[in-house]
Amino acid sequence: MKTLGSFLAVAVGTGIAVAAISQSGAQSTETIRQYQFAVSGDGYELVMREVPRPAVGPGEVLVRVHATSLNRRDWYILNESIGDRGLDYTDNIPLSDGAGEVIAVGERVTEFQVGDRVVSTFFTDWVDGKRNAAVRPSARGAGPGTGGMLSEMIVTTPRALVPIPQYLSYEEAATLPCAGVTAWNGLFTQGNLQPGDFVLLEGTGGVSSFGLIFAAAAGARPIITSSSNEKLARARELGAVGTVNYRENEDWQVEVRALTNDYGVDHVLEIGGRDTLAKALESLAFEGHVALIGGVTGAAPPIPVGALMGRGATVSGIYVGSRADFEAMNAFMEEHRIRPVIDRVFSFEQAQEAYDLMGNGSFMGKIVIAI
Ligand SMILES: NC(=O)c1ccc[n+]([C@@H]2O[C@H](COP(=O)([O-])OP(=O)(O)OC[C@H]3O[C@@H](n4cnc5c(N)ncnc54)[C@H](OP(=O)(O)O)[C@@H]3O)[C@@H](O)[C@H]2O)c1
Repeated sequence: MKTLGSFLAVAVGTGIAVAAISQSGAQSTETIRQYQFAVSGDGYELVMREVPRPAVGPGEVLVRVHATSLNRRDWYILNESIGDRGLDYTDNIPLSDGAGEVIAVGERVTEFQVGDRVVSTFFTDWVDGKRNAAVRPSARGAGPGTGGMLSEMIVTTPRALVPIPQYLSYEEAATLPCAGVTAWNGLFTQGNLQPGDFVLLEGTGGVSSFGLIFAAAAGARPIITSSSNEKLARARELGAVGTVNYRENEDWQVEVRALTNDYGVDHVLEIGGRDTLAKALESLAFEGHVALIGGVTGAAPPIPVGALMGRGATVSGIYVGSRADFEAMNAFMEEHRIRPVIDRVFSFEQAQEAYDLMGNGSFMGKIVIAI
């Protein structure tokens, strides 16, 4: 993928004419708009910049991006200090998730043609099978060389794109790459979800809302927690068989077990970390499966192995998933005509507002930025 670093960029609104030279040396006077992380104090701010239209090289695909979506990770990146986690995001394009239309293909590209509707994979280099050391640095939107999707156009490789299921809009497709594939991997690839299984979803954010609609479509029995009774009412409409307000009920795990007649849950998508892991383990049925995903409330404590052994439980560490997971998920979604839960769609100019909504927590499901 070409990163912005290979081009001359100017800030939008400076009035400076852009006459840029692409990596391949081709002259271009056409520009596009994209967001980048700019240094602001100890951290970053979002800045919209005008940059030369990217040129497509051999083996590459040029995509006109129509929609992107936010994940909690994107919010963390914008709001962390420079150098946290040893990475510097300066001038990087934000957001891993985006969907659009192929507008040019380079030599030797046979997988896609102009006009195809495509969505980004979270990792550009995890196609199939087991993860390896090369996968992590290929996560989009999180470091030099892995430019994100918050741009009018991006250049990428065919293997880092999948076709959009025909019935989904660009905005819906843009919600899939991180949250959707993570929930899929946790429940199906690693969890072997079966009809009738009880599934615990923590909160009603991106990963959990996908877990809810996937579990319901598979004939499983989702139980979901939230800080908001309004969101829980919506979750019931989406197929939750049980709901618990974790803010009103601190010992929510007792209620979760009661909802299963003390059987426990067969699956947990563990996104909470510090404040939820121990309670999630208490909620677990014999032979249950915990998909370790995140730490919305803080870093998770060590897992008490005795509790796992006693229940015959299994734990999987999840890191989104491969392109093969994405394709399997799309086939399932298409079969069940599943539509992602979208809270709100912002315009390209409102990107900061989209981040602010994620920051204040008053959303359910996914937040989208249309481009
Ligand atoms: N390992 C991976 O591959 C992977 C992939 C995706 C995400 N993640 C991680 O998973 C986590 C969730 O990501 P996301 O993008 O789905 O986040 P998100 O869309 O921002 O959703 C976060 C949700 O967490 C819920 N929450 C907050 N405090 C809670 C608590 N004490 N108990 C239960 N729920 C609580 C809130 O639900 P209510 O508003 O309903 O209260 C909120 O909507 C993050 O830590 C993220 O970094 C990891």
